[in-house]
Amino acid sequence: MTNHRNHSIAIIVALDEQNAIGRDGNLLCHLPGDLKHFKEITTGQTIIMGRRTFESLPKGALPHRTNIVITSGNAVNYPGCIVVRSVEEALTHCKEGEKAFIIGGGKLYRSTLHLVDQLYLTRIHHTFADTDTYFPEIDFSEWELTERETHAADEKHRYGYTFMTYQRCK
Ligand SMILES: NC(=O)c1ccc[n+]([C@@H]2O[C@H](COP(=O)([O-])OP(=O)(O)OC[C@H]3O[C@@H](n4cnc5c(N)ncnc54)[C@H](OP(=O)(O)O)[C@@H]3O)[C@@H](O)[C@H]2O)c1
Repeated sequence: MTNHRNHSIAIIVALDEQNAIGRDGNLLCHLPGDLKHFKEITTGQTIIMGRRTFESLPKGALPHRTNIVITSGNAVNYPGCIVVRSVEEALTHCKEGEKAFIIGGGKLYRSTLHLVDQLYLTRIHHTFADTDTYFPEIDFSEWELTERETHAADEKHRYGYTFMTYQRCK
């Protein structure tokens, strides 16, 4: 499926072996290599997030990116962010020819997976306990793997992980 907009939309997410993405309002673990990857891919671009994901950011809006937060809350002011009420409204703020990144969380991923044409997945090679937020099921017959890079666990990374980029083919 292709979207009929003049910009492309990508999802970027880190998920465990069971598609878990969070617990207690936070990420599952600290992986500096994944944070670096996220920064490299999204810097200079537009990022779109749900209200709860924005609230989980320790220093608020992420620098050197256009930050868009979706919430139904009235009269909220999140410093450094454009606040909108829907995915459609968020996309009206994306410039022509630009890529927009959906950066979470679970609720926003569920409502946008059908719209996106690229997936940047970081598969963390572990199954975490007590998780409460999940990525929706992906039908991999709709997606073609275009890049893959595996990193083993090391002194800075308790778990191994694999970066995978998919392009929509259906
Ligand atoms: N592993 C990862 O890559 C990753 C990435 C991001 C987040 N996370 C984790 O995911 C968890 C947060 O996810 P979540 O599902 O609880 O919340 P979320 O999707 O971040 O935010 C949910 C809120 O955002 C607004 N919202 C989201 N989608 C909307 C839509 N389509 N239309 C209108 N409003 C929408 C609503 O705000 P209002 O209630 O204000 O109306 C909704 O209650 C945290 O644990 C976070 O750490 C993980």
